[in-house]
Amino acid sequence: MKPKKVTKAVFPVAGLGTRFLPATKSIPKEIMTLVDRPLIQYAIDEARSAGIKDFIFVTSRGKSALEDYFDTAPELENALKKSGKEQLLEILKSTNMDSGAIAYLRQNRPLGLGHAVWCARKLIGDEPFAVLLPDDVIAAEKPCLAQMVEAYEETGGNMVAAMEVAPEKASSYGVLDIGEDMGAIVRAKGMVEKPKADEAPSNLAVIGRYILSPKVLNNLNRLKQGAGGEIQLTDAIAEETGPDGSGVFGFRFRGMRYDCGSKAGFLQATVAFGLSRPDLRDEFSAYLRDMMAQLRAAE
Ligand code: G1P
Repeated sequence: MKPKKVTKAVFPVAGLGTRFLPATKSIPKEIMTLVDRPLIQYAIDEARSAGIKDFIFVTSRGKSALEDYFDTAPELENALKKSGKEQLLEILKSTNMDSGAIAYLRQNRPLGLGHAVWCARKLIGDEPFAVLLPDDVIAAEKPCLAQMVEAYEETGGNMVAAMEVAPEKASSYGVLDIGEDMGAIVRAKGMVEKPKADEAPSNLAVIGRYILSPKVLNNLNRLKQGAGGEIQLTDAIAEETGPDGSGVFGFRFRGMRYDCGSKAGFLQATVAFGLSRPDLRDEFSAYLRDMMAQLRAAE
């Protein structure tokens, strides 16, 4: 039997974004722009293309720019209409959400990712749901979450995006303890959040895309503190790996992941997405070549 369709997604966007100060003093980090779209738009587009219909934002104080971004902008639209800027109007459409499709709720205390997701429990109810961390931007022919939905229809249970990382980097991630390796899909027999360098069960790291069973919300009800004193989503998912659990699968997605929560990752994403844009590619690649030549000459 195919599992129930995943139509709800949670976007935890309550973080302060201190790594990008001073930029994030007055704008949410999710509004920071990759080429010409804010980070959050990439996550929303990915969710939409995977069949998500209900979008739940877990926000915090100072994030109202996010709400405005997904609202209609009648004055701007009228001005564009009057001046016949049809193309720009079309671009704006991607930011419009159907009435009632988007909900905002606040995480009133910064207690961790698990807590942020738990805050959405009443809106999720007793259904499978997706979680997308907008800091992780994934360039892929078929969007990562859509790949996962396809795989999840076969496995059910819980599914997390996974990627091999350099062993010395494993302690920055949630890491899977591999039970059975079936290639693209891995059955996990455990999961550890930010393991100590010599304690990582593998170098297969969790990337910020999840499809979860509502059982994970029950596990979060206990609000147990984990790594870094935070309530960790990883710990609540790990409880489902046991013999009585609903199963946890790692999915090695096809695509390139950029860590836009770090400055270097954001810059790499800017270059990659800039080069992938037909309207920018020629000018931008010529500039990069020139820049590389200058760098080499200076070495
Ligand atoms: C979060 C998760 C971690 C995951 C990572 C992926 O950590 O807790 O399990 O591997 O996202 O980006 P964070 O980067 O928010 O510390």
